[in-house]
Amino acid sequence: MVGQFPAQKGSWEAVLDLRKERKDDWWEVEALFDHCFAPGREALSSYRLRDDVSPISNLCFVAHDALGVLGGAIRSWEVVIGDKPVLLLGPVAVHPTRQAEGLGGLLINELLAQAESDGWTRVMLVGDYPYYRRFGFSKLENVTMPPPTNPDRVLGRALIGGAWDGVTGTVNKITVSLLDP
Ligand SMILES: CC(C)(COP(=O)(O)OP(=O)(O)OC[C@H]1O[C@@H](n2cnc3c(N)ncnc32)[C@H](O)[C@@H]1OP(=O)(O)O)[C@@H](O)C(=O)NCCC(=O)NCCS
Repeated sequence: MVGQFPAQKGSWEAVLDLRKERKDDWWEVEALFDHCFAPGREALSSYRLRDDVSPISNLCFVAHDALGVLGGAIRSWEVVIGDKPVLLLGPVAVHPTRQAEGLGGLLINELLAQAESDGWTRVMLVGDYPYYRRFGFSKLENVTMPPPTNPDRVLGRALIGGAWDGVTGTVNKITVSLLDP
């Protein structure tokens, strides 16, 4: 267990257990993602970067409530732009009954802290800027995701100053991991 979370803002009556995802969590997390995302989520371009590539095990988290029900989950993958390793954050999802309690933020911040500690320097995702700007993400200029992707949704954040400087081009799937510890 790496942390706990009040199920309602300001309340510790129900507690969520936040920990690294384990192998036997896989299908429960898949079911949560199916529930939270529109049908056909795996047609999204970001999934082409994940095909046949394992997620980064140290950067995948699950949060269960006191009854053991999965409330939220986040995964991440390594991708490359040229020869530069990039952490691709997501998918992240919170069960509709747990949304707007801060759990999404908790999962994202936990992942970013662990990523920094593991030596990652730059993170990207495809998502809504109005949500992700609070975590320091902004639009990546001259970084291209596989089509079809709305360029306004291609967001990045440096974990150390200047980590995105000069990093431009197409985001590709890894063949050999450059950084996953
Ligand atoms: C996006 C998601 C992970 C956020 O999780 P959460 O636990 O509800 O988020 P938090 O509690 O940390 O933050 C809630 C705040 O974010 C806002 N927010 C949530 N989704 C948003 C979005 N897409 N755009 C803008 N704001 C958003 C809420 O309105 C709320 O605002 P408030 O703090 O002013 O009340 C969750 O809504 C979810 O699973 N959605 C469906 C799957 C999805 O879209 N995943 C992200 C793919 S990029």
